[in-house]
Amino acid sequence: MKLVTILSLAAAAVALPASGSIAPRASIPKADGTKFNIDGVTKYYAGTNSYWIPFLTNDNDVDTIMSHLQTSGHKILRIWGFNDVKTIPGSGTVYFQSFSGSTATINTGANGLQRLDAVVKSAEKYGIKLIINFVNNWTDYGGMAAYFSACGVSSNAQWYTAAKCQSLYQNYIKTVVARYKSSTTIFAWELANEPRCNGCNTTVLTGWIKQTSDYIRSLDSDHMITIGDEGFGLAGDGSYPYQFGEGNDWAANLALGNISFGTFHLYPQSWGTSNSFGDGWITAHAKICKQLNKPCLFEEYGVSTASDHCPVEGGWQNTSLSLKDSGMAGDLFWQLGDTIKSTGQQTSNDGNTIYYNSTDWTCLVTNHVKAIG
Ligand SMILES: *[C@@H]1O[C@H](CO)[C@@H](O)[C@H](O)[C@H]1NC(C)=O
Ligand SMILES: *[C@@H]1O[C@H](CO)[C@@H](O)[C@H](O)[C@H]1NC(C)=O
Ligand SMILES: *[C@@H]1O[C@H](CO)[C@@H](O)[C@H](O)[C@H]1NC(C)=O
Ligand SMILES: *[C@@H]1O[C@H](CO)[C@@H](O)[C@H](O)[C@H]1NC(C)=O
Ligand SMILES: *[C@@H]1O[C@H](CO)[C@@H](O)[C@H](O)[C@H]1NC(C)=O
Repeated sequence: MKLVTILSLAAAAVALPASGSIAPRASIPKADGTKFNIDGVTKYYAGTNSYWIPFLTNDNDVDTIMSHLQTSGHKILRIWGFNDVKTIPGSGTVYFQSFSGSTATINTGANGLQRLDAVVKSAEKYGIKLIINFVNNWTDYGGMAAYFSACGVSSNAQWYTAAKCQSLYQNYIKTVVARYKSSTTIFAWELANEPRCNGCNTTVLTGWIKQTSDYIRSLDSDHMITIGDEGFGLAGDGSYPYQFGEGNDWAANLALGNISFGTFHLYPQSWGTSNSFGDGWITAHAKICKQLNKPCLFEEYGVSTASDHCPVEGGWQNTSLSLKDSGMAGDLFWQLGDTIKSTGQQTSNDGNTIYYNSTDWTCLVTNHVKAIG
């Protein structure tokens, strides 16, 4: 609670315009038709993803990276708000929640949620808005699987409907939301990273998304809420990503009253489609967003062939931006790369990484931000 107070005061201080200045007052980001309004400005926005930034342990490193985003014209950063473990790591390693027997313990210590606090504080300082995600479908940083033995299930499909799993998950959400509930730096709360329920009736995920988004809305009446899904399950060319087999019905989920905007990802290499599949994929989602009058966020996209970064992803960015009056509200590439100042080490390179000030950065950040205007 103490920390929340400090953050709120900091937000108020940042928000005070210098006399005579026309700097907009920081405000909670909102949907405005099919676009986003950030600090009073409704337009198309660009940004990126950094799952790793909350796991850094040096505040100056976090500030340096946020300052790079700010000077580059990025506005939205999506981060992991989870780090679930079954075995408590050494004191220098960051984790947010641990499971033992049938209990979950949230780590609010210096190697716990205080690292997330540092990211929120830094983002506030540099005018970056954060999407905070609550759990992973995959096992990286724990994921739903980390909850399994504590809540007595053995699959993601069971996790979505088991009361005990959902009460642990909601308790974690409640703790995180309470820390930043009044912060103008939170762009949106996000249910999960790439939730899937393979072979399930789509009513399973739709029911879970409704239950969770209604729960978050009961805790926080102001911030946007979104799903974090890959965008599967919609009318299209019938190829794998359009199918409903992973349990998602994209339009039905987006239509839920407490879902503020749509999310979708794009990884043709993982999905067995061609890179040229991307333009139709973006257009198909934009169409549904326009019909439902909610913004579409092209939330992750990547190709791992380095020479394709600029031509392929730059093409997708252009397609997305060209639909800015037809449903598309912004895009975030996967993923941000930078050099950690205190160690001189480069951040994780998964082949999709776009490093700050590289040639790819000029193409996918500098030029894209310029094109957005
Ligand atoms: C994520 O979802 C897919 C589809 O349901 C599933 O195959 C995969 O195992 C899930 N991840 C985990 C960790 O369960
Ligand atoms: C999915 O579940 C709904 C509601 O329980 C039911 O009406 C529908 O028939 C089911 N669909 C399939 C394909 O099983
Ligand atoms: C959104 O969530 C609130 C709080 O749980 C609930 O009262 C409301 O009915 C939900 N809105 C819609 C449109 O479902
Ligand atoms: C994207 O559009 C810009 C103009 O805004 C253009 O310079 C660039 O070549 C385009 N990129 C691709 C890959 O088509
Ligand atoms: C990155 O590039 C910008 C523009 O050329 C330059 O001003 C800045 O100093 C560079 N930053 C670093 C850390 O090299």
